[in-house]
Amino acid sequence: SKGIMDKHLITTINKLQDAFATVGVQNPVDLPQITVIGSQSSGKSSVLENIVGRDFLPRGTGIVTRRPLILQLIHRPAGSTDGLKDGAKNEDSAGNGDEWGEFLHIPGQKYYDFSKIRDEIIRDTEAKTGRNAGISAVPINLRIYSPNVLTLTLVDLPGTTKVPVGDQPKDIEKQIREMILKYITKPNAIILAVTGANTDLANSDGLKMAREVDPEGTRTIGVLTKVDLMDQGTDVVDILAGRIIPLRLGYVPVVNRGQRDIETNKAISAALEHEKAFFENHPSYRSKAHQILMHHIKNTLPEIKAKISAALAKYGAELAQLGDSILGNNSNIVLNIITEFCNDYRTVLDGQNQELSSNEL
Ligand code: GDP
Ligand code: NA
Ligand code: MG
Repeated sequence: SKGIMDKHLITTINKLQDAFATVGVQNPVDLPQITVIGSQSSGKSSVLENIVGRDFLPRGTGIVTRRPLILQLIHRPAGSTDGLKDGAKNEDSAGNGDEWGEFLHIPGQKYYDFSKIRDEIIRDTEAKTGRNAGISAVPINLRIYSPNVLTLTLVDLPGTTKVPVGDQPKDIEKQIREMILKYITKPNAIILAVTGANTDLANSDGLKMAREVDPEGTRTIGVLTKVDLMDQGTDVVDILAGRIIPLRLGYVPVVNRGQRDIETNKAISAALEHEKAFFENHPSYRSKAHQILMHHIKNTLPEIKAKISAALAKYGAELAQLGDSILGNNSNIVLNIITEFCNDYRTVLDGQNQELSSNEL
C-alpha cells in the first residue's frame, strides 16, 4: 500500500541524506525544492509557515533569517506506527503525536512542541553566527513529519540587503546574493519570488534574481505579501492580470501576520482564517496559493522523474570512481541506498501524480 511505500521512502531519504552529509555532499539527488527569495522582511519566512500550516520559524523586522534553513516535509499518515516498537505510541507526555520535527544536528530528538523548534533554530543560528546580525551559508537541516504535508523540500533564505549592519561583512550584498543563487540555479528549484505588495514591483529583488536563473519563467511563482498594508484605493489587480511584469506561472496574493500579530503570538490558524476572510470580502482577489503550488509541482513531476533516473546513473558512476579513496567502506552502502531511494521515490511520485490529477488540483 501507499503507507508502506512512504515508510520505505522516508527511511531511505533519511539514510541517503545522512550518508551524503557524512561525506560532505549536500542534496545529491535533485528532489523538488521550493525556495523563497526576496528582499529582507518582504515576508519569506511568513509565507513558508503558511505553506506548512505551523508556527515554527523565526520571523520579524530586520535580519531574522541569517542562515539557510533546509526544511524537509515528510508525509506520514495519521496514526501510523511506522518505525515504532510494537505497542509503542508516538507521542510526548502531553499527548501530541503525528506531527513532529527533527534536526539533523540533534539526531534522535523529536520536537512535538513547534515553539521549541523555533527556539532551537534561533539558538543554533546564534551559536554559529553570533547575536549581532552575522550571517552564515552553513544550512540548518530540519525535517517535519506530518499527515498534512506533501513530501518535498522547502528552503528559507536570508533576504537581499544592501548596507551592512552589526557584525555583517562589508560585502553582505554579494554574500547573500551568492547564497541565494546557489539554491535557485538548480533546475529542480521552484522559486517563490516574494515581493511586498506595498512596494513597487519594478524594484523587486526576488523577481530580478529569479529572472537571471529562470529567464523563461518556467519555475518562478510571484508571491505578493502585505496586500493588507496597501494604500487605500490601490490593489494588485493589474499585477495579477499580468499587466505590470508578466510571469508565466502568475502571482499569488497573500496576507500573513503583521509584526503586531507576531508580538501577541497570534496563532497560525487565526491568521489563515483572517487571510481567507480578507480575500473573500475583497471582490478583486481570490487566494490560490496552494492550488498554484500544487499545479506547479504536478507539472514538474515528469521532468523530475527523468532527472532522478539521470541522477542515479551519474552518481552511481561518480561514486564507483571515487571508490574506496573517499568513501572507504561506505561506497557500497551509499550506492545501495541511492538505488533503493530512486526506486521508492519513483513509486511515490507515481502515486502522488495520480492523486493530484484525480483531485483536479
Ligand atoms: P522575511 O525577512 O522576508 O523572512 O520576512 P518575515 O516573514 O520575517 O516578515 C517580516 C515582517 O513583515 C514581519 O514583521 C511580519 O510580521 C511582516 N509581514 C510579513 N508578511 C506580512 C503580511 O502579509 N501582512 C502584514 N501586515 N505584515 C507582514
Ligand atoms: Na525579516
Ligand atoms: Mg526570514
